[in-house]
Amino acid sequence: MKIGILISGRGSNMVALVDAAKSGEIPDSEVAVVISDKADAAGLAKARERGVATIVIERQGRKREEHDAEITGELSQRGVELVCLAGYMRLLSPSFIKAFPNQIINIHPSLLPAFPGLDAQRQAFEAGVKVTGCTVHFVDEHLDNGPAILQKEVEVLDNDTIGTLSDRILEQEHKLYVAAVKLLTRERGV
Ligand code: GRF
Repeated sequence: MKIGILISGRGSNMVALVDAAKSGEIPDSEVAVVISDKADAAGLAKARERGVATIVIERQGRKREEHDAEITGELSQRGVELVCLAGYMRLLSPSFIKAFPNQIINIHPSLLPAFPGLDAQRQAFEAGVKVTGCTVHFVDEHLDNGPAILQKEVEVLDNDTIGTLSDRILEQEHKLYVAAVKLLTRERGV
């Protein structure tokens, strides 16, 4: 299965997927391309170090549909069958979703539908919940919406700070994203 990953920043989830595809942990799959909407995304160098093709497609004041059309063009040209959003900080347009039906997934650092949007770990911390976690879900045109594929709980400890909590969630994110992609490769009989 050919995977395309969209990032805007650090790219640690992208690295987890690239490494799992390379090691065979995700079977019969390869990350065909990593696309960033930010030229200074730290993840770009990490993808290149791993020999993965990277492309920067900045929005440059264009309409969302135009920007998305350029991205979907690149993904289609490379035969991408699964699009993984990994810290990609833009909503996708309806035409993007239509171009890849049930083929776009995202990871979010909370147990959705709780705490969608930015700073989910801080939202959970400040709400005082005892359990939060992370979710891999199918993407639709709404923010952090769409059916969940897998979720993992993470306990909030009495001595946690937002930093320590976020680190423990991130550790689980990396495992969960790999597990979700494995599940989809199996379901699609790849
Ligand atoms: C992760 O916490 C992910 O759940 C959220 O954005 C963050 C991206 O981190 N959507 P990274 O770029 O994968 O390191």
